[in-house]
Amino acid sequence: MAVQEVATSAQSSHRPQITLRHATPADAPSISQIGIYTFTQTFGHSMSAHDLQAYLSSSYSLEATTKDILDLNKNMLVATLPALSQPQASPSSSPPSHHPPSHHPDESKDTEDVVVGFALLTRGTTEPCLSTYAQDTLIELQRLYVHPHHHGLGAGTLLARELESIARQQGFKYMWLGVWEENLKAQRVYEKLGYRRVGDHNFVMGDEVQTDWLLVKEL
Ligand SMILES: CC(C)(COP(=O)(O)OP(=O)(O)OC[C@H]1O[C@@H](n2cnc3c(N)ncnc32)[C@H](O)[C@@H]1OP(=O)(O)O)[C@@H](O)C(=O)NCCC(=O)NCCS
Repeated sequence: MAVQEVATSAQSSHRPQITLRHATPADAPSISQIGIYTFTQTFGHSMSAHDLQAYLSSSYSLEATTKDILDLNKNMLVATLPALSQPQASPSSSPPSHHPPSHHPDESKDTEDVVVGFALLTRGTTEPCLSTYAQDTLIELQRLYVHPHHHGLGAGTLLARELESIARQQGFKYMWLGVWEENLKAQRVYEKLGYRRVGDHNFVMGDEVQTDWLLVKEL
């Protein structure tokens, strides 16, 4: 299956080459695994095991991920590295191995790249705090996840910038997102990208009510 390449990073020589492309259903297993692992690493400590499991099942199951990829109101991008450039790129929590299994869930048969992160752009979501903006000017950066083994390589920034470019091409004027008040790392990344805090909202996860900062960027 042909994949549409949307951008290639211009990394310095000491950084591996990250490529972005639109996700296909064949990427669902990789995205699901990265989502489960990265969400658990980042937010797992802040909720009960029961709430965590319920959220992972509803948001990062294969079925939910495939649905997101195929949803006409969404655009899912993946960031990839060439398979040979990152022998410890497994999105699972297992340690790096010099003898990888013959079928690695991260490997796309068609591209032989390895997915290390993904980002999801979503049209049509509403947020009461943003009622001063005309609804048809707003679009949501719903997810931005890079596997922890690959943080700091620029994949997150590239994914976010490419989603902004897609949103601009689609005629939107503002990108918005919610980021957990304790997620300082992501807040720094968004600040560098030019997002500013315009309010807060509650993020309900089972019995937990967490506070998310609402950030907006003019595109
Ligand atoms: C937020 C996230 C997507 C950023 O992805 P990333 O690929 O690590 O980000 P980048 O490599 O583009 O780094 C962006 C900036 O973050 C900082 N940074 C990120 N990881 C770093 C690391 N390991 N060491 C040093 N700086 C780091 C740097 O300041 C960098 O800026 P620079 O371009 O000046 O170097 C990633 O940390 C992540 O997936 N976190 C867990 C899930 C999450 O919180 N998602 C956001 C939910 S709202």
